[in-house]
Amino acid sequence: MKVKVSRKAHFNAAHRLYRPDWSFEKNDAIFGLCNNPNFHGHNYELIVSVTGEIDPETGFVIDVKVLKDLIKSEIEDAFDHKNLNIEVPEFKNLNPTAENIAVVIWDKLRPHIDNSKDLEVVLYETPRNFVTYVGNTLQFKLF
Ligand code: NI
Repeated sequence: MKVKVSRKAHFNAAHRLYRPDWSFEKNDAIFGLCNNPNFHGHNYELIVSVTGEIDPETGFVIDVKVLKDLIKSEIEDAFDHKNLNIEVPEFKNLNPTAENIAVVIWDKLRPHIDNSKDLEVVLYETPRNFVTYVGNTLQFKLF
């Protein structure tokens, strides 16, 4: 019997969405306010979920304390109160859209979660806008 265990977390971060190989006008047309050259911030809300079998000894799918500490060390410490474009190496050449941030978060957490368990990342950039990434499931089945 599989159960999904979720933990909410939060970080504030600044970003700018743009492509250096596009004109300011094109960046403005595509990215709008998010292309502000002086950056702007978001209050990101993160929900990390781990799905797997319940361990018969502990009754846990994953110890939530372990998940909490993992999100703190891998994500909050790396992203909170940071300028994502400038201070987070993963976004040096990657636009820090909500989509790309969710994928980066998933990639950072996945090595720390047991392979028998599924990992899902939901990232809210605003209370109304959020993205979900569950990894490349086809790749997982092949390996
Ligand atoms: Ni933005």
